[in-house]
Amino acid sequence: MTRILSIETSCDETALSVIDADGGTLSPKFTVLGNALATQAELHAQYGGVFPMVAKREHGKIITELLGRVLTEANVLSLGEIKSARRDEALAELHREPEAKENLAFFFEKYGVPNIDLICVTSGPGLEPALWVGISFAKALSIAWQKPIMPVNHMEGHIASILLQKDAEGKPTIPAIQFPAIALLVSGGHTEIHEVKTWNKYKLLGATKDDAVGEAFDKTARLLGLPYPGGPKISALAKEARDNNETGESVGHKIELPRPMIHSHDFNFSFSGLKTAVLYLTRDIGEKKMDDKIKRIISREFEDAAIEVIVKKTILAADEIGAESIIVGGGVAANKRLREVLSDEAKKKLGNIKIFFPERDLSTDNSLMIAMAGYFAYLKNNKRGFDIKKIKAKGNLKIEQ
Ligand code: KG4
Ligand code: ZN
Repeated sequence: MTRILSIETSCDETALSVIDADGGTLSPKFTVLGNALATQAELHAQYGGVFPMVAKREHGKIITELLGRVLTEANVLSLGEIKSARRDEALAELHREPEAKENLAFFFEKYGVPNIDLICVTSGPGLEPALWVGISFAKALSIAWQKPIMPVNHMEGHIASILLQKDAEGKPTIPAIQFPAIALLVSGGHTEIHEVKTWNKYKLLGATKDDAVGEAFDKTARLLGLPYPGGPKISALAKEARDNNETGESVGHKIELPRPMIHSHDFNFSFSGLKTAVLYLTRDIGEKKMDDKIKRIISREFEDAAIEVIVKKTILAADEIGAESIIVGGGVAANKRLREVLSDEAKKKLGNIKIFFPERDLSTDNSLMIAMAGYFAYLKNNKRGFDIKKIKAKGNLKIEQ
């Protein structure tokens, strides 16, 4: 059994958790002991996007408080004190995070080494200033507590996020995944299809050439005057249009958007043209006629276009590798329409292939997924920690092939 403290600060959520991991890659088992998350979403919403330096400052303010909370919840905290030489060396890691440094100095005066085996931290992809807060904090803890540390790829986290499910009664269960699997990763920064041979063995099959699908949702939302993040809002409007049976014809305007690259015989995507098409469409309609009904119809057409392309390519990829399962991860995995269409189409075209979506609160960024992916990374590294000096924030970190 490996008891893991995990830390995620790649974007606008500060998240820490403690889990027990066991069973290896063949039959992984996880028990959540503690989980804490603080979101900056409201703060960033007023700017219409995430500013890296604002995100960094907010992570630094709250991370020590979340550490105390999660270790207390997991019941692994002990009173005591960290010896001064190690303490100073540890705190030096936080010289760029003054608030976190001050709070952690206080923490080290009050508490000793907690009962954990490993520290896992997101090292990328993400916003580098934001990533650095989690990494520096993790390094400080690793030095002070003399515990191994493992850097974790955020996207591997999104793949692992489907492993913590709840059964019909709400009890935690771990699904058994049959390999090979296809992982569809759809978020604000990524749109990728991977072959998953087992946990921690991946092959990239295709990715977006420009915008990510979540980004296209957000940009379309902005064009329609909807608040950030736009994905959930577009999805809600699209549903209303479907429920009311509202189409372009019902407002006397042709509302049709392209399905970019749907016929390309590969697993790549392009979403910037779709967003531009929305721009031209809104210009064509004109501001005066842009009422709520038209916004609902555009949202519906946009969602249909984006999802059609994603579903078609995912099924094609699953068919090509003879996948036993499809795993969907990332913020856009929360999209209900995507869940419905992918499930229906997969059943039609691939028979009884199993599809796994993360629980709602594990679709968006969290640290439980980082703990799980961190466990697999630790196993791949022969249960050894990573050289602390080699851990760096990498904004464009790719999944190791
Ligand atoms: O994975 P995530 O939380 O952050 C990263 O980008 O890493 O994903 C956030 C993205 C945003 O673009 C957001 O608009 C989108 O996921 N999103 C959705 C939905 N919920 C979140 N997009 C479509 N439908 C949704 N229901
Ligand atoms: Zn993410």
